[in-house]
Amino acid sequence: MQNFDYQTPTRLIFGKGVISNLPEVMKPLGKRILLTYGSGSIKKLGLYDKVKELLAEFEIYELSDIQPNPKYDPSVLDGVRICKQHAVDAILAVGGGSVLDCSKAIAAGAKYDGDPWDLISYKVSAKDALPIVDILTLAATGSEYDCGGVISRTETNDKIGYVDPHLFPVCSILDPTYTFSVLRKQTAAGCADAMNHVMEQYFTEDTTLLNDGFCEAELKSLMTNTKIALENPEDYRARAELMLCCTYGCNGILALGNSASGWPCHGMEHALSAYYDITHGEGLAILTPRWMKHILNDKTVGRFVKYGVNVFGIDENLDKYEIANKAIEETYKFFESIGLPMHLKEVGIDESRIEEMAHHIAVNEGLENAYAPLTEKDITAILRDSL
Ligand code: NZQ
Ligand code: ZN
Repeated sequence: MQNFDYQTPTRLIFGKGVISNLPEVMKPLGKRILLTYGSGSIKKLGLYDKVKELLAEFEIYELSDIQPNPKYDPSVLDGVRICKQHAVDAILAVGGGSVLDCSKAIAAGAKYDGDPWDLISYKVSAKDALPIVDILTLAATGSEYDCGGVISRTETNDKIGYVDPHLFPVCSILDPTYTFSVLRKQTAAGCADAMNHVMEQYFTEDTTLLNDGFCEAELKSLMTNTKIALENPEDYRARAELMLCCTYGCNGILALGNSASGWPCHGMEHALSAYYDITHGEGLAILTPRWMKHILNDKTVGRFVKYGVNVFGIDENLDKYEIANKAIEETYKFFESIGLPMHLKEVGIDESRIEEMAHHIAVNEGLENAYAPLTEKDITAILRDSL
């Protein structure tokens, strides 16, 4: 078991109606608040009006139109400008992972004198950040319980995962009823994203029975509850369990003591989203089974056997490669069954830039150090197989 040093300082307030805690949460943080949100779903939900009503005593500035795969320019730059101009005290992010991630970059940029890209690109490490509170409306990324954000810069085809301990939200307000309105496509993509977060931590060496058990339970819960939520989007129990599963997904708690895995599917997917602006979870659903097939060998087969037997109930008496291949097939079939696209062509990606993306990934993601190392040639093969 590996050494670790772990802290997650974020307060979680979970359940129906917990937004009533918002004034009490915001008060100690200061009076001037930047309210950040996306393209309008929070207005349809009535959340925008509710927030304004609850924070009537505060001075509210706004940054709207934060796009999926949030962009450095204009969203991060505009947010930083507003914070500096009005000496904003704290950020309230209301939305999905994109709104949260963008808000994290703004929070760090607001406390930095230079170009915020210096921070996102790790040229300079953040010394401070504005406090962030969020009200989550989409279960997927786990951004509400981690200190990472993923920011895209269109002109350089970069999509960078930026992690800094200053960026843990102070508090995340998690009311599963806000996710009732999430569309089928985003519900399914959120499931694939959260499942892949678990897999990125499960497929590695030096794991523990405890972590394996957590991960297997996560995967089973995500699959079962996504099916229920797709059938009945207002099933509170299912939406609530999905929200909790996703919250646990990305802050490392599922892999304490495990050796590092390298997060290979995320490394590859970020390039797909950077070049083609596709939905993160859809890219992951397409890549995951191809990556699994590609890395299956004598070193990794034991992990696939455990995954196949404990997550999909495959007969443990079968030959180990038969179990592993069945497990990969079940993974593919599950994603397909919840309506996810399973080929890059379905999300508008053809073969024209495969080599260029594989090179970008190989240079920027360090996947040759992953649990199952990937060279540029391996990455090209996985992307080609995904077409
Ligand atoms: O823009 P609005 O109007 O809010 O609409 C959004 C958006 O169109 C909509 N939506 C959100 N809540 C809704 C809703 N529609 C109806 N009802 C609701 N209650 O859903 C669309 C997608 O939103 P987005 O925030 O982009 O989705 P998600 O939460 O999946 O976030 C994806 C982003 O997070 C990054 C991804 O790369 C991607 O950029 N990730 C962040 C991570 C992190 N910080 O730890 C880890 C992940 O691996 C991931 O990379
Ligand atoms: Zn993800």
